[in-house]
Amino acid sequence: MSRLFDDNFPNMSPVWSRLFTLEVESASGSWITAADGRRFLDFTCGIGVTNTGHCHPKVVAAIAAQAGKFIHAQANIVIHRPMLELIAELKAILPPTLDGFFFSSSGAEAVEGAIKLARAVTGRQSVVVFNGSFHGRTGQAMALTTSKAGYRGRSQLMPSGVHVSPYPYPLRLGMSPEASVRFALDSLDELFASQVAPTDVAAILIEPVLGEGGYVEAPTAFLAALRALCDRHGIMLVFDEIQSGFGRTGAWFSFDRAAVIPDILTLAKGIASGLPLSAVISKLDYMKKWPTGSHGGTFGGNAVAMAAGVATLRAMREEGMPANAAAMGERLRAGLCKLAGRHPALAEVRGPGLMVGTEFVVDGSPRNSKALVKAIIAECEARELLLLNCGTWDSTIRWIPPLNVSAKEIDRGLTVFGEALAAAKA
Ligand SMILES: Cc1ncc(COP(=O)(O)O)c(C=O)c1O
Repeated sequence: MSRLFDDNFPNMSPVWSRLFTLEVESASGSWITAADGRRFLDFTCGIGVTNTGHCHPKVVAAIAAQAGKFIHAQANIVIHRPMLELIAELKAILPPTLDGFFFSSSGAEAVEGAIKLARAVTGRQSVVVFNGSFHGRTGQAMALTTSKAGYRGRSQLMPSGVHVSPYPYPLRLGMSPEASVRFALDSLDELFASQVAPTDVAAILIEPVLGEGGYVEAPTAFLAALRALCDRHGIMLVFDEIQSGFGRTGAWFSFDRAAVIPDILTLAKGIASGLPLSAVISKLDYMKKWPTGSHGGTFGGNAVAMAAGVATLRAMREEGMPANAAAMGERLRAGLCKLAGRHPALAEVRGPGLMVGTEFVVDGSPRNSKALVKAIIAECEARELLLLNCGTWDSTIRWIPPLNVSAKEIDRGLTVFGEALAAAKA
């Protein structure tokens, strides 16, 4: 196949930033084949979406079967089996207190829904988020997003009532993990004393593993302290696991690792292996306080996406993907730590399971490493490995391979990354 796209292709909005210009012809497992015939090892997973690998045969078969029966059966009008099946599959891997389900199509929509639900349950308006957060780019979600000023470009008139507190990010704060937790909790305490009383707060919203903000896992002690604080003041604790959910961290959900259960959970990305699907999950008793009709959407709970979700969860369970993510994550981190020993700019290797971040520090600061990170990613692309950046200053390269990645593929990625580190010039 020849390429249709070239750099002058005139009709695609430049509002999309674009890391690579490779045109995809087909994709399977951990690999993308480009229109020019080159094969790329894809460790971006479409930003943490194709967790079962590209075109997992069980997911493809479920999509085809459902599309042959019916494609759309609108959730306000009828009930359909794929939705009931997905709820059953999700209930089997969630704590019993999370037994009320609402579905939409994108992560941002789920976050919008979660905040509306928290306000409906508590009768309060304010929301606390953390530095480096990414919750989406629709109106309210954008107001909750603090990872990059660019996401708010030319849209600074935003919904009010959002308060930002530090995330316990040891490298950024220049502190030990324990000290960063103390600092983050003290800062929250000060925020409650100086800006908004906790009795006015509807929700504390956090990514248990910071995603776009840099791939940083919040220590269990921090999440447990937030849980206690929310219980004390009647605040809804909302975990955004849109990027960290569905086996990505080696557990079904990253909160399983911390044993801290949220009041409201948002999910998307890996839920349906690439079909647009997201969820707001909470206690059914809370869901009953959400006035009927005050939230919804035409496509939410689409039957084909739901069927893909059911097949995704079954394939993950049958093929032990969360456990493979834990094992391959260990292998990846061990290889990256070895490389860090030879490349001083590679300051930290971190993150659970296959949600791994490698942060670069140049001249003493991550603020100076953007050019180096860009050069390393370009060297990897030249060697047919796709990796993504993240972080406020683009100082981190993130590793998001599919959860069924093989040891051979991880090793291939490490070899290429080692070559790219040696070749990259900022
Ligand atoms: C943690 C988190 N929340 C929300 C979103 C928004 O999801 P979407 O892009 O599907 O709107 C993202 C997307 O990257 C995310 O990583």
